[in-house]
Amino acid sequence: MDKKVKVGLVGVGGMGGCHFQNYENVKDAELVAVCDVRDDVARKKVGDKNIRIYSSLEKMLKNEKLDMIDICTPSYLHKDMTLKLINDYHVLCEKPMTLNAKDAKKISDAARASKKNFMVAHVVRFMTPYEVLKKEIESKELGKLIRLDMKRISAMPRWSWNNWMMDEKLSGGVTTDLSIHDLDFVQSVLGMPDKIDAYRYVKEENDTILTTMIYGETLVTCEGTWYNYSVPFQAEFIAVFQNGCVKLDNGVLYVNGEEYKKVEPVTEEVDLGINVGNDDGYFKEIQYFVDCIVSGKQPGRVTPESSARSVLLADMVKKKAKLVSKK
Ligand SMILES: NC(=O)c1ccc[n+]([C@@H]2O[C@H](COP(=O)([O-])OP(=O)(O)OC[C@H]3O[C@@H](n4cnc5c(N)ncnc54)[C@H](O)[C@@H]3O)[C@@H](O)[C@H]2O)c1
Repeated sequence: MDKKVKVGLVGVGGMGGCHFQNYENVKDAELVAVCDVRDDVARKKVGDKNIRIYSSLEKMLKNEKLDMIDICTPSYLHKDMTLKLINDYHVLCEKPMTLNAKDAKKISDAARASKKNFMVAHVVRFMTPYEVLKKEIESKELGKLIRLDMKRISAMPRWSWNNWMMDEKLSGGVTTDLSIHDLDFVQSVLGMPDKIDAYRYVKEENDTILTTMIYGETLVTCEGTWYNYSVPFQAEFIAVFQNGCVKLDNGVLYVNGEEYKKVEPVTEEVDLGINVGNDDGYFKEIQYFVDCIVSGKQPGRVTPESSARSVLLADMVKKKAKLVSKK
């Protein structure tokens, strides 16, 4: 491909805004159009840039010649939008792929049958600390992984359009919306667990899912929490190996106690209003997807099957989860 990949972005709310600002640095791609049902939000985001604005996906598709669509709409829209686009456009879709395993399988099958590329934007797989952790687990340089404890904490997400994120039927709740980041990472590196246990604690609008997973002799835990007060977003992990430790603590990565090189954000620090940190992963995932299109390769770092497995894992966790809080 000798021309730039022409991109249309659907949904320019919190995460769409984050993708939007990253396109400025992505090579070989040009964001030519955005669409959002909220005209004012789209106009504010686009400002005086030469990017066309539409009020619906249909209007954008009718008026533009696009190569790639980036879906950043609420999660309950991912399935229908993806299935509509998948045979005619390269599709990058925000996580979660969709809200249940049955629909995820439908998308994964359709993506595999299509000649176009499809990838779920599982950004954690592209964040440097997690790339380092994956490398350490797979290389076994520190010996076998004994324990992995992952945590993801946010304020209750009250900032979404029409408050869709607070409705578990629309967002999948704390498991499928938030904890899926870590469940997906674990699943992508270690596969499906031998055994799962989970606890859900919901009290005074604080919502926690705590998952324990057994892989042979390795114990993995993932906590996802939405707190009912204003906490800054926090993601951390500690991985204990036979001969060492990798730890992400307050944004700093340590390998055997030594600080790993600091990762500089790719874009300017901007408050996106969705309580997520600025991270190189957002740029890297988009650049990777564009590079795959340009080189005619399928995005092997996040396959449709693997994303569907993460939705399945989230479903299994929800099914297993014992509600331990009392009303
Ligand atoms: N990767 C991450 O770190 C991360 C973080 C937050 C959210 N997300 C995901 O990103 C997606 C969007 O979440 P968000 O926080 O940006 O939500 P949001 O509510 O802030 O933004 C959604 C946007 O979609 C628009 N929209 C709604 N229906 C539409 C339609 N039919 N056509 C076009 N636009 C439409 C809304 O007006 C809104 O601007 C979700 O799937 C969410 O899970 C990912």
